[in-house]
Amino acid sequence: MSKEKTYLVTGGAGFIGSNYIKFLFETYPEVKVVNLDKLTYAGNPENLKSVENRSGYYFVKGDICDRVLVADVFRKYSPDYVINFAAESHVDRSIGDPDDFIKTDIYGVYSLLENCRKYGIERFVQISTDEVYGSIDKGSFSETDTFNPSSPYAASKTGGDRLAFSYFVTYDLPVVITRASNNYGPNQYPEKLIPLFITNAMDDKKLPLYGDGKNVRDWLYVEDHCKGVEYVLQNGKNGEAYNIAGNCEKQNIEITKKILELTGQSDKLIEYVKDRAGHDRRYSLDDSKIAKLGWQPEYDFEEAMRKTVQWYQENEEWWRKIKSGEYLEYYKEHYGQDL
Ligand code: NAD
Ligand code: DAU
Repeated sequence: MSKEKTYLVTGGAGFIGSNYIKFLFETYPEVKVVNLDKLTYAGNPENLKSVENRSGYYFVKGDICDRVLVADVFRKYSPDYVINFAAESHVDRSIGDPDDFIKTDIYGVYSLLENCRKYGIERFVQISTDEVYGSIDKGSFSETDTFNPSSPYAASKTGGDRLAFSYFVTYDLPVVITRASNNYGPNQYPEKLIPLFITNAMDDKKLPLYGDGKNVRDWLYVEDHCKGVEYVLQNGKNGEAYNIAGNCEKQNIEITKKILELTGQSDKLIEYVKDRAGHDRRYSLDDSKIAKLGWQPEYDFEEAMRKTVQWYQENEEWWRKIKSGEYLEYYKEHYGQDL
């Protein structure tokens, strides 16, 4: 397929976006990828070291909310596909200060959609999340279920999700939407449960488990997610949303114990701490729609967790720079401004 296509990937310096860009180059060596990223605290050019000098890769530092800058990118590169990963993504930060979440996760989506409408594209993929449905005690959410977001993060992602849909309905823009479960794997910022706990365990530090540790998340290996997004881009139907599940539900305490086992640490590192405000109890997705389309996750949890722990063990320099604050200095040196 699309070896001459140009992909505009927004938020491509973050966790999932950088994995997706590397996946694209492995899959389509001739592809052109424009990465538009603001480089917030979560964006890290080191995630893309292996592709930054190859032909077909173009990096633009900029904010998706900046409609003039986004228009320049469209005029210069004429993307065929836009895949919007750019977002403020961490629930705890959204509880502390929702401002940037509202801007990027809602207005940023609008700015991209307006430019898509003006310049024309073949497909716009809005990377939404399972958090738009909220918590479910029993059973699983399907794509037509009601939205019930709990955090400012989830609510702003719901805004972006619906805005994208409205551009399909109102302007016939070729939009598809994906809603995935919790991702894990290489290059995930060590504020999220799995990389935080792996790196803390490696340093003999406590693992702060919220509440009773029995909240349930469905875990999806990032490589599977990237393949799922690409599958929907190529095979999905305009105006449709697709759940992308890992089919691997675990309580947080189970994840914690697995990390302790794989890092050779004891349960003594577990520290139960105050619960997250508005903490959703359980996420669960019905993925029969994407399964019917022909896609399912390939990784087994045990294997993917081993790979993930091994990656953080072999890439200490990457996460130590972030955790120590050294990355902030590097950023200032390279970009002449503070994060
Ligand atoms: P991340 O926080 O690691 O990366 C986000 C990236 O977006 C960063 O590179 C950041 O610099 C960039 N960015 C932020 N604001 C921007 C702006 N205004 N303009 C341009 N770039 C901006 O996030 P992630 O975990 O890789 O998540 C990527 C996407 O996937 C998000 O939309 C998120 O909502 C969605 N998602 C994440 C998960 C998960 O488990 N991580 C699951 C489902 C969906
Ligand atoms: O479900 C998809 C979502 O998954 C994405 O849309 C979000 O971008 C992503 O951040 C993630 O949100 P969560 O809040 O589920 O992920 P997080 O890693 O922050 O937390 C996972 C679970 O672990 C959650 O129940 C809270 C708990 N937790 C988290 C941290 C950081 C702890 O118990 N202790 C912690 O220190």
